[in-house]
Amino acid sequence: MVSSEELKARLARGEFVERPEEMSEEYLGELKKMLLVAADTEFRSVPMLHSYMKVGVPARYLKPILAIAQDEMGHAHINYRILEDLGEDLDKLLFEREASQWAYPYFFDMPFENFAEVAVAEGLGEFAGGLLVRNILNHTSYAPWKRALVKVDMEENFHVKFGQSLMGELAATPKGLAELQRTVDWMFPLMIEFFGPPARAVDAQIEFKLKGMNTDDMRQKYLAYAVPYCESLGLKVPAHLDASTNLYVLDIPFPVEFDVANKRWNFDKKVEWRDVFARVKKRGPMAELHLSQIRQGWKSMKSGSLQ
Ligand SMILES: [Fe+2]
Ligand SMILES: [Fe+2]
Repeated sequence: MVSSEELKARLARGEFVERPEEMSEEYLGELKKMLLVAADTEFRSVPMLHSYMKVGVPARYLKPILAIAQDEMGHAHINYRILEDLGEDLDKLLFEREASQWAYPYFFDMPFENFAEVAVAEGLGEFAGGLLVRNILNHTSYAPWKRALVKVDMEENFHVKFGQSLMGELAATPKGLAELQRTVDWMFPLMIEFFGPPARAVDAQIEFKLKGMNTDDMRQKYLAYAVPYCESLGLKVPAHLDASTNLYVLDIPFPVEFDVANKRWNFDKKVEWRDVFARVKKRGPMAELHLSQIRQGWKSMKSGSLQ
């Protein structure tokens, strides 16, 4: 291990990190934190994708959804494998953690009830996931992760296009468009929330060149995709481009209280970020079921009774 000052001097010369011996304690800690969010997000999406099977998605889309689930398993494996190389116990991480210790977007915990919800989760959600990948791929100083993410990025682009074809199909009829709008109304703010609180003045992960964009940059990039895309389909989203700053601005109070049971936002009840974190830590309605499916698969495999 080296000191953080020594490491930062190397990184400033454009050098990459290849091995744990070249890291500082702090760098290793931040790298592991980021890997866990990336890995959990990929893996936890799989039971959510599985839940799409029974909500009226046209049969021709079911095999592509299974193919996406397989991609996400592969992406999760890449990130968890790097964590294992850095000394983490994977069995413990995957199968023995409480729901509150997992780190992934809150909308994965919501029950999916119809085709429109699946379409929006894929068309808007996959782009958010892809941004997370590109923020690392394009900027990370940890070379083994950078190399591994080339394939992941290509597959995420395919997932976004798939989601767009679902949204496009629904948007072509007034009934489908109304269903999409109902979904965007509750799901879009959850995606904006996913990027986290306003950027901090000093971000260790940026200082160590583990990533390039802060939370504000990420949210802007996301809005620059989602707002024009939704509007092109005839959907209304509560954000607009401010011509004077060339930045997107939200037209809703944010963060704000989410009525989980009814999938609606209480716009008259503004909350603090600590309230958002508390909701996420408590996890949502589907968390226990979906995580139990992951644990059950492991138990079956260990006992030799995997079906
Ligand atoms: Fe993925
Ligand atoms: Fe994906």
